[in-house]
Amino acid sequence: MDKITTDVVVVGSGVAGLSAALEISKQFDVAVITKGKLEETATWYAQGGVATAISPEDSPKLHLKDTLEAGAGLCDRRAVDILVSEASDRIGELIGLGAKFDWQGDRIGLSREGGHRLARVLHSGDATGSEIEATLIRTANAWRSVQVFEHRFALDLVVDGGRCVGVICMDEESGRLVFYLAKAVILASGGAGQLYSVTTNPAISTGDGMAMAYRAGAVLADMEFIQFHPTALDQDSMPRFLITEALRGEGAYLRDCNGERFMVGRHPLAELGPRDIVTREMIRAIKQCNGGPVYLDATHIPKDTLKEHFPTIWKHCREHGIDISKDLIPVRPAAHYTIGGVKTDLDGRTNIVDLYATGEVACTGVHGANRLASNSLLEGLVFSKRIIKTIKTKLAMEQKNPVQDIKIGFEVARSKLDLDFKKERRWLQKLMMDYVGVARSESGLKYAIAELKKKDEILRVEFSSPEGFELQNMLLVAGLIVRAALGREESRGVHYREDYPESDDSWIRHLEHYVAEETIAG
Ligand code: FAD
Ligand code: SIN
Repeated sequence: MDKITTDVVVVGSGVAGLSAALEISKQFDVAVITKGKLEETATWYAQGGVATAISPEDSPKLHLKDTLEAGAGLCDRRAVDILVSEASDRIGELIGLGAKFDWQGDRIGLSREGGHRLARVLHSGDATGSEIEATLIRTANAWRSVQVFEHRFALDLVVDGGRCVGVICMDEESGRLVFYLAKAVILASGGAGQLYSVTTNPAISTGDGMAMAYRAGAVLADMEFIQFHPTALDQDSMPRFLITEALRGEGAYLRDCNGERFMVGRHPLAELGPRDIVTREMIRAIKQCNGGPVYLDATHIPKDTLKEHFPTIWKHCREHGIDISKDLIPVRPAAHYTIGGVKTDLDGRTNIVDLYATGEVACTGVHGANRLASNSLLEGLVFSKRIIKTIKTKLAMEQKNPVQDIKIGFEVARSKLDLDFKKERRWLQKLMMDYVGVARSESGLKYAIAELKKKDEILRVEFSSPEGFELQNMLLVAGLIVRAALGREESRGVHYREDYPESDDSWIRHLEHYVAEETIAG
């Protein structure tokens, strides 16, 4: 097996991974490994923006209040405090690297999204994620201090004597294995939206980092909380195209098939209520419309505003025969964000020494039971910076010590199961959508567990391709989500149980998973 030795290895090239890599590269060697191409990230697709309390009417305290309220009792207040108070410094750094946010006159333009009491979201048209990602990639290229390895699929973490000492990867082009040996490993591998048949998440979001960390002995938490976005364009595509909440912030209405604004009277903020509430009301409206679509109505917003503020949506809808200044936009909820993940402390440490997690793969406690819109790009920026501060101090103390070599044996055998990976993946995505989606019940979750158990054998086979490893990771993470969803016998935030429709204060606690079980569903 080839070996590459470095100080720090980062798995993932989204906002969390690249911002961490740039920061550490000022002082130490760093390698970023990523499956696919550098820009193939959820970050690239982010539309709405980054929430930061910078207007004179706003304050970190108000941002904290809205985040805690959306989180429905399960946020870690200390983590949220850090998020909101370090936000403007991180944004300043991003602007320093050349990221361009929209301005209105001499002030940064701010938009409003669900759950925010006031306009607080910095944006770059409706393509904020690609602006941030492109800025980070440009900087990494210019600085030349970050070693980037594209098309490297991380298979597993290597833990030796209780410390994480590296990552084993497969070169997606040659199939060769490469061991990255390092003093610290940062997981920044994103979420798991691809577990669902209707999702806004790109193909890379298969929960690999969560599965790897779990196999290595890390603690995962809050896995039952999968956030659905209310307004994905209701057209058959994988992933679904998102219609940003900022369009509702600009005044767009949600209408049912009879043209009624079904959110009025359902929440004081109507269309701008928290995402979980809007999503559930949409499901109700869709049922009342016999499964037919519900609509986003932007026809009363001036055409120039639509074209200027939402150019990506304008263009995409046009290409699909929808003129958003005249036509209603058919929309439907789609799996959007994995709230749970690898449990970390306030500096991104996991329970495994020298293993850190940041971004969507991590569970910092910031989002509680329901993530407030546009808090996740920010979470990546804020907590990656904190991880690097921690690692820098540690590496500075150890600077004279070379990376300790270790010998590892890792075989990737040929699969003995003849599987159609695409078919298996579609099967899993449909199962999760039908039984572990927006509304859950004991009978549905037990059925999902029984079905997943039938796939246990897949977890035991050693595949020889990224498709096989992804399928294993997806099955493993699906098992964790289903078990957690069955365990939480109440409704809270994005976790809605038809058989336990109320919140129950005795459930103000977290479900955690650890130690690799033999089976998916235990
Ligand atoms: P990602 O950006 O997903 O990056 C993950 C990286 O890990 C990728 O490089 C991937 O290739 C790599 N990776 C994964 N598995 C492996 C493996 N096995 N081996 C090697 N590499 C691997 N949030 C907001 O705050 N504001 C928004 O406006 C917003 N809009 C959104 C719109 C859409 C359509 C979507 C999908 C999400 C949106 N979000 C938004 C959420 C936000 O974009 C993500 O939570 C955030 O970008 C995650 O960043 P990340 O760096 O953790 O992961
Ligand atoms: C959006 O633009 O609606 C997405 C924002 C988010 O997911 O935070």
